[in-house]
Amino acid sequence: MIRPDEFARRRNRLCEEAGDHAMVLLAAAPQVLRNGDSHYPYRQDSDFLYLTGFHEPEAVLVMLPGREQGEKLLFCRPRDPERERWDGPRLGLEAAVEQLGMDDAFPIEDLDDILPGLMEGCERIYHLVGKDPFLDQRIIGWRNRLRAEHKGQKGPGELVSLEHLLHEQRLIKSRDEIRCMQKAAKISAAAMRRAMQACRPGMNEAEISAELVHEYQRHGCPPAYLPIVAGGDNALILHYIDNNQPLPDDGLLLIDAGCEYQGYAADISRTFPVAGRFTGPQRELYELVLAAQDAAIDQVRPGHAFEAYHDAAVRTLTEGLRDLGLLSGALDQLIEDQSYRRFYMHKTGHWLGLDVHDVGDYRIDEQSRVLEKNMVVTVEPGLYIGHEADIPAHWRGIGIRIEDDIRVTAGEPENMTQAVPRSADDIEAIMRP
Ligand code: GLY
Ligand code: MN
Ligand code: MN
Repeated sequence: MIRPDEFARRRNRLCEEAGDHAMVLLAAAPQVLRNGDSHYPYRQDSDFLYLTGFHEPEAVLVMLPGREQGEKLLFCRPRDPERERWDGPRLGLEAAVEQLGMDDAFPIEDLDDILPGLMEGCERIYHLVGKDPFLDQRIIGWRNRLRAEHKGQKGPGELVSLEHLLHEQRLIKSRDEIRCMQKAAKISAAAMRRAMQACRPGMNEAEISAELVHEYQRHGCPPAYLPIVAGGDNALILHYIDNNQPLPDDGLLLIDAGCEYQGYAADISRTFPVAGRFTGPQRELYELVLAAQDAAIDQVRPGHAFEAYHDAAVRTLTEGLRDLGLLSGALDQLIEDQSYRRFYMHKTGHWLGLDVHDVGDYRIDEQSRVLEKNMVVTVEPGLYIGHEADIPAHWRGIGIRIEDDIRVTAGEPENMTQAVPRSADDIEAIMRP
């Protein structure tokens, strides 16, 4: 649980960095219609959630560092018993001030009237330029109104992207954020174990998908992204989400799935034999991916370059592919030529947080950035062997990915998702009836 004082600290830090004579402006995510009168499940915008803890749509946070009449203002939906009968309770203005720690709150309908006046004396507006073109236009419109209606006011001359300041802050996780992520990891791990235990020949991908979602939802957690439940060849489609095909009796099942807890995501992949026992070739490839993951996780330490763990995975995979006869040539040359990309075409991981692919720069001044304590990354090497004629038949159609969520600590890397069996033997053990 993220406490109100942590949200206040985040806002204060951003205000300090933006400086006086600045306006910082962020909007809630819109509700999106699915069809007719039905909406997609509402998910608050991660940046807005990070600064407010507020889960309602139709809201705008405006921060004016140094403003004497109040710095942190929220525009949101006022209480409305008639509407609340249909759509559920709203926090309303008074509670927005009290519970969210705002200095003042205004009805969202008044945004157009109030905003131009708030821009008086501002030199810069920080917002997420380009994220919402409609909001970008409105900001220009408010500035034009200020110029037209308040003589002598030029209005803010600079529109600055908020991205860098805010996303640098989000990249390093606080103690309570890590607790939320551990909770998401725990529930996601339980779901993955449940899927392993439920899996039997004759089942359909959809039945396994239902096991995952059941486990998330009974803990009140939505999936953090559309799960991938890919039997056999479907594992070769990196973004497979149909999840509706019969499982192959003697094939593998690749699952990539996680839930979110209080907005914080987990992201786990496991690959296991539908029948509970790896065949010889499946096990050989599986153990190679596992070795690559071990080598990569060992690089997730403070002071190491972000790219080091990808490089470690690539080296292990390339060497193994060469030993298995799937690649031939000198190891360094194979790496240099990226020959491994035929079988391993994605990166080994990404930041993890409120977004599954979380925010933050991976490179600074054209160099890979250095890992710091309390960054959280995924480590997810894989191998995807197609059906081309030059590949020995026993390797064809095998797709494997193993993915865990790793926190950078001052000491050993912390595997937040280690509760899911990872070795071939442990997977076979948990699948035994
Ligand atoms: N589940 C998305 C990813 O692994 O990056
Ligand atoms: Mn994943
Ligand atoms: Mn991932």
